[in-house]
Amino acid sequence: MTFRSEYRSCLAADLGPDQAGRRVRLAGWVARVRDLGGISFFDLRDGSGLVQVVVDPAEVPESSGLRMEFCVAVEGTLRPRPEGTENPDMETGALEVAADRLEVLSRSASLPFMIDDRSDADEQVRLRHRYLDLRRPRMAANLRARSRCIRAIRQTLDGLGFLDVETPTLVNSTPEGARDFLVPSRIRQGHFYALPQSPQLFKQMLMMAGVERYYQIARCYRDEDTRADRQVEFTQLDLEGSFWGRDEVFAAVEQAAAAVVKSLRGADLPLPLPRLTYQEAMARYGTDKPDLRFGMEIADLGEVFAGTGFRGFAGVLEAGGVVRGINIGARHLSRADLDGLVDRAKALGAAGLVWAVVQEGGGLRSPVAKFFSEAETDRLIRSLDASPGEVLLVVADREETASHVLGALRLEMGCPDGHDELRFTWVVDFPMFDRTEQGGLTPSHHPFTAPVSIDQMRERPAEAAAQAYDLVLNGSELGSGSVRIHDSDIQRAVFGILGISGEEAESRFGWFLEALRYGTPPHAGFAIGIDRLVAILQNESSIREVIPFPKTQSGADPLTTAPTRVAADQLRDLGIDLTAETRISLGEGSGGIGTPGKA
Ligand code: AMO
Repeated sequence: MTFRSEYRSCLAADLGPDQAGRRVRLAGWVARVRDLGGISFFDLRDGSGLVQVVVDPAEVPESSGLRMEFCVAVEGTLRPRPEGTENPDMETGALEVAADRLEVLSRSASLPFMIDDRSDADEQVRLRHRYLDLRRPRMAANLRARSRCIRAIRQTLDGLGFLDVETPTLVNSTPEGARDFLVPSRIRQGHFYALPQSPQLFKQMLMMAGVERYYQIARCYRDEDTRADRQVEFTQLDLEGSFWGRDEVFAAVEQAAAAVVKSLRGADLPLPLPRLTYQEAMARYGTDKPDLRFGMEIADLGEVFAGTGFRGFAGVLEAGGVVRGINIGARHLSRADLDGLVDRAKALGAAGLVWAVVQEGGGLRSPVAKFFSEAETDRLIRSLDASPGEVLLVVADREETASHVLGALRLEMGCPDGHDELRFTWVVDFPMFDRTEQGGLTPSHHPFTAPVSIDQMRERPAEAAAQAYDLVLNGSELGSGSVRIHDSDIQRAVFGILGISGEEAESRFGWFLEALRYGTPPHAGFAIGIDRLVAILQNESSIREVIPFPKTQSGADPLTTAPTRVAADQLRDLGIDLTAETRISLGEGSGGIGTPGKA
């Protein structure tokens, strides 16, 4: 495949100093124009990079009046730039094209923002003109990185004998914990398809179908609040293997991850990746997605303060709570800064926070230092491996609260900017269920995950461990997976524990429960969020920067204006009417079908 055409003989990136004197034809956009003494200089940007073009409007009249982002084709001679005018920041900065022909292929209206990486246009404006935003070198590089990521995944998994299989996107609900996007059926009015939250049940059915090793770069849809790492529409690398357990999944995912890191960062990812249990992650980092790029680990101080005379800690320990702390290192914090940390801990849900600064000679400066015995003070300093000048933060609370608050403070105090360093870890042995606010149980992963012990799950479901695992990169959950249930009775038992009655299970998942009855092989799998992976590897703080056409916080697309209202007759065809409340909120009367368009 060549980029050559009648418009161009080469790309900017093809030009090297050894080619000076060569005739070239280039096509692209005018990135920056300067007029010096009647001569025009501009950077021509194509899909590969930039090169400076010099043209004399007196000789090439088509070049007069050139403006930013005009689309042009030029022909001329490549030559070294005059000494002293080279630009070391540009790949082709030692060269320029002396153009003797120029054709304006298409003019540009005035721009809503500058097309360069320094411009900090409002995101709404960038998304409204995404086709211009994607011309910026950083965004173009992100698109290329995304493509390389997917290519590396495909090459690796194809090489491992995986089959790339497409699954449908007009489906029945696949519960992954979010709301479904629904699509009304015209032919069966009152019936709806759901867009897939993931291909979960289809990939399991592919295992039943004997596919054995499946993968797909799959689009998923979840009607949930958008955030820096969440979109309503996103892409997964979804994979599954038959006769597999956790280790086979890990080996395949690790090879794919290593290939992507090699392709995007040029680095070798040391394998196998480290593993932490869920319990360890929660105890040491206060989260199930620990950022391992820095220490500041949480220490349990129960033994330090066992039998303490300090009522604040003794009361909590007697009530079954915990005392835990972190060492945030040597910092110059004023009294107001330290009190600010107490307020922050309270805002995160703690009843309070004790701060202490280690003094030269071993004592502590803290509002509660006088309540600690000398032995407690020594043990505290030792447990947190603290030196003079270092600041210790201690929380006494319910285990969950202490862990959450210290985990959040640890991140706020220690998380590095950007993602120059990459620290992957598996988190294994997740619980099978989490408690809902109403006191019921909800799947910690999804309801198709196998328990470690069926007996334990039946007897003490709230304590049951799951054969579920996550892959975490720099404190972000990159992917999740599990060994699956391959027995319909166990699947029914899990539905029962989740409070889904036999009847409801039959009506929602009867087809799947039936499928499980025909010799389903043991199987396991995983899904990685491609958007998150590329964003981190490209050092971007939001997945919106690596999605060509993302949605805003409210799930809207400022470019195409989706979601939009539809014509009344479209709704009528679908047997759908708007509620009176919706009509009023849209500023319409409340009677009859009525949306814009043909009625
Ligand atoms: P899970 O729901 O954990 O598992 O999703 C897997 C990974 O997909 C990414 N992800 C998202 N990325 C962007 N925006 C979102 N709204 C979003 N939601 C999820 C995350 C996440 O880790 N079927 C199971 C996988 C399996 O068991 O094989 C599943 O979808 O990176």
